[in-house]
Amino acid sequence: MSNVMSNDGLDLIFRNARTHNAWLDKPVEDALLRQVYDLAKMGPTSANMCPMRIVFVKSPEAKERLKPALDAGNVDKTMAAPVTAILGMDIHFFEQLPKLFPHADAKAWFKDLPDNVLEYIALRNSSLQGAYFMLAARALGLDCGPMSGFDNAKVDAAFFAGTTVKSNFLCNLGYGDASKLYPRSPRLDFEEACQLV
Ligand SMILES: Cc1cc2nc3c(=O)[nH]c(=O)nc-3n(C[C@H](O)[C@H](O)[C@H](O)COP(=O)(O)O)c2cc1C
Repeated sequence: MSNVMSNDGLDLIFRNARTHNAWLDKPVEDALLRQVYDLAKMGPTSANMCPMRIVFVKSPEAKERLKPALDAGNVDKTMAAPVTAILGMDIHFFEQLPKLFPHADAKAWFKDLPDNVLEYIALRNSSLQGAYFMLAARALGLDCGPMSGFDNAKVDAAFFAGTTVKSNFLCNLGYGDASKLYPRSPRLDFEEACQLV
């Protein structure tokens, strides 16, 4: 067995994977969302803090609750997507550390830090988890449409009121309509983005 991913796999999650804005009329089963999470959760985070929390918005009622928070350009595609994942982060992630990092008192490292520092740490690590989430979704055949064009305070009020969870970014999920894709934009070459020192 090779310990390198096949070219088909690399195409699936990187080279051919696109950010989708139009969706086929094909539902996404809850069991598949569980599979996506169960892969994504294995990606590394600082002290294994796992701050990402997800609300999968599927029902018309929940979509309507999300709608007023969306930037105008993100409304139609989000309302049409079979699922919109609200990728959130628990600023008090340290409460779970006795379970997640049992071999040390990691909770003590974080619990007295000010909220702005906790948020910075949670943002870094939940953003990493959000990336693992999108790669996991693609690996399981789904397409993604990530978005930061929304009012975080409105999403937090509508979905996370009374909790220590804040929204990070949104990600539409489903089966994309490839006929509606824009041409792929370029990326920076190795020489433009990297140094070997
Ligand atoms: C964190 C994040 C936020 C984004 N926010 C928006 C958004 O609010 N609206 C939008 O239409 N696209 C948004 N995008 C999509 C990007 O423009 C898109 O992923 C990028 O241009 C690469 O496109 P490609 O994957 O098709 O190559 C966002 C992407 C990411 C990762």
